Amino acid sequence: MSALAVRPATAGDVSATFALAQARPYTAKWTAAALAAEVSRSDSLFLVAERGEMRGYVLARVVERDCRLLDLATASDGGGCGRTLLSALMLAAKARDCRKVSLEASAANERALAFYAKAGAKVVGRRPKFYYDGSDAVLMDLDL
Ligand SMILES: CC(C)(COP(=O)(O)OP(=O)(O)OC[C@H]1O[C@@H](n2cnc3c(N)ncnc32)[C@H](O)[C@@H]1OP(=O)(O)O)[C@@H](O)C(=O)NCCC(=O)NCCS
Repeated sequence: MSALAVRPATAGDVSATFALAQARPYTAKWTAAALAAEVSRSDSLFLVAERGEMRGYVLARVVERDCRLLDLATASDGGGCGRTLLSALMLAAKARDCRKVSLEASAANERALAFYAKAGAKVVGRRPKFYYDGSDAVLMDLDL
């Protein structure tokens, strides 16, 4: 099997990213236009992982020295794609002089919470009933 490659997203990645975000649970429901805008924003970090076809993406906003994770999804669970994308984001954020990656996940999204905890993220807060389904938002920071 060929290796997973991670690179900055281009305009040509918008439709595959849009389709992946639509297909997966717990993703931000981007419009294609909003994703296209993220490709060219200088304060965005937008990376895609591919192995022949797109396997995942991560999108974050750099605000001063904070890298705010907006969305992360893989085409399928397991296999290390999420870890590879998060590591690449952390490297890119360090290169932008960020001190941390801040993120939030639904308390119902046990898989994501375990994934981020394994990556070293620490819970720093909670927003009760934040999501449409009534679940809390768990706020986490990943120090760089
Ligand atoms: C969350 C998500 C990005 C994780 O990506 P992934 O490719 O499945 O994760 P990886 O295979 O890289 O897992 C990395 C580590 O996370 C941990 N982990 C992942 N899933 C886990 C689970 N269900 N239970 C416990 N630990 C888990 C493991 O420690 C794993 O390391 P290991 O394989 O050495 O055991 C992916 O499941 C996804 O796209 N989910 C839907 C969208 C989503 O929830 N995004 C997050 C929004 S905040």
